[in-house]
Amino acid sequence: MKRVHSLMRVTFFLALPGMMHSHLMAEETPASPGVAPQTEIVRTEKSLKEAVAKRFKMGVSVNNGVMTHPAEAAVLLRHFDTVTPENCMKMNVTQPTEGVFRFEEADAFVSYAQKNNLEIVGHTLLWARPENTPEWFFKDGDAPASAELVLKRLETHISTVAGRYKGKLAMWDVVNEALADSDEEYLRDTEWTRLLGEEYIIKSFEYARKADPDALLIYNDYRCDRPGKLKKLIRLVQSIRAKGAPIDAIGLQAHYEYGMIPFEGIEATLQAMRELKVKVVFSELDMDVVTRQRWYEDDGKHQEELSKFDPYPSECPPEVLESQAAQYARLFALILKYEDVVERVTFWNLHDGQSWLNDWPWKRHNHPLLFDRNLRPKPAFDAVIETLETPVQ
Ligand code: XIL
Repeated sequence: MKRVHSLMRVTFFLALPGMMHSHLMAEETPASPGVAPQTEIVRTEKSLKEAVAKRFKMGVSVNNGVMTHPAEAAVLLRHFDTVTPENCMKMNVTQPTEGVFRFEEADAFVSYAQKNNLEIVGHTLLWARPENTPEWFFKDGDAPASAELVLKRLETHISTVAGRYKGKLAMWDVVNEALADSDEEYLRDTEWTRLLGEEYIIKSFEYARKADPDALLIYNDYRCDRPGKLKKLIRLVQSIRAKGAPIDAIGLQAHYEYGMIPFEGIEATLQAMRELKVKVVFSELDMDVVTRQRWYEDDGKHQEELSKFDPYPSECPPEVLESQAAQYARLFALILKYEDVVERVTFWNLHDGQSWLNDWPWKRHNHPLLFDRNLRPKPAFDAVIETLETPVQ
């Protein structure tokens, strides 16, 4: 229980670098001797989730570090109503070896979220890239595993993991990144596809529904705004349904790049899903400002040069921040236009210092989110709030 001694309650500004801002205060409640003082950080800027006003869920991906970091927890709880675990529910963590399930981190995540009234998105039951499926899945001793064995293992995995949190999670990313990148191929060329074709995706949805009947089931992928990939996404949704399997939503990862947000493609996707009566979640939103497109061009020949490219090591220039804000505003205006379709918008990480884009695909100082490294709201934050507060025409 939190103790409140009103006479002794002290309010002070946090003495962290760059934090002398009126939106951030800490209130310390002195405790009895022997009991650690509790510090409650009070933030005074507007709240994202309040500005959204229930039109869709406002989410963020975090890991368990937030639980022991009061300043981060304050941002989380002020702005978001939904959380996605960044890594701890992935297959390599939950079942690194066949039959050895590890739930310490995921259990702690779920119990923290429940205590704080946060809805939970499970991520993810099956990440269909070869490097994200533990190797044991496809082995039977020294021989390759049969399709039947792989399917059986998939069922065990999904029923164990989704079953453990039955009734506690609002949504599950059931299958992640199964569509191929090239326009010619339909599904990513993996052991999954070679052994089972589309069947492994369809079965995953069936197993997930059985294990946790009330969770909203999502197919999640990146760059579905590209016409070729959108076509495949539509095919997949139709195919899952034709086989009588349950799919409720598609997830657009939304790892956008500064100056290159594919607004038209996003709108085409939203329209297509509206027609198919499938919900859409923006599942992993961020905006890379040290853009990565060139990393993949010309057979990777720029990678060595780019691996030393780190243009904004301390501050992100104000003009970049302003333009980023305008791009975020345009994106949220588009999202609001489709609020009947959009179920949730989730940022991938809480603040710039935590973004995975500081490491992928090379190490650099990135600035992709609404909060900076000192947890201060950026111009993009103000722009998103303003867009959310502007009546839709
Ligand atoms: C990333 C995490 O952010 C990293 O910490 C981890 O090292 C790799 O995975 N698409 C997804 C997410 O579906 O699970 C990925 O998360 C980012 C890309």
